[in-house]
Amino acid sequence: MENPEDFAEESHPSSELVKVCSLAELPPGTRKVVPLSIGNVLLLNIEGEIFAISSICPHAGGHFEYGCLEGYTIECPLHYWPFDVHSGTLIGMNQVSFLDYQLDTYPVQLHDSQIYLKLARHS
Ligand code: FES
Repeated sequence: MENPEDFAEESHPSSELVKVCSLAELPPGTRKVVPLSIGNVLLLNIEGEIFAISSICPHAGGHFEYGCLEGYTIECPLHYWPFDVHSGTLIGMNQVSFLDYQLDTYPVQLHDSQIYLKLARHS
């Protein structure tokens, strides 16, 4: 795909691709916080797979950049709640009272060794 913006326009008119950094800036096993209009987003490179999640915990504001990562699970450093970086769901807490705590995740695309996030377009 030559032009990522064209791709976003064609496939999801309500979304846009935003370039956040190069792949070289996020080698496997590293993480990086990028400030965006929607707030800070945490990028994770897990064995070459890139994930993008809100850097702030939906429970009480813990910063995931300091959280422990185990496989595809990131643990909030404040109260140790574990979230799945694929879906953003809270793991192992099925009570209704926990269902509201959904971590925001963002689709990632790679173009020419650059990392793009697909974000909802604001009009
Ligand atoms: S602030 Fe993240 S689990 Fe409480």
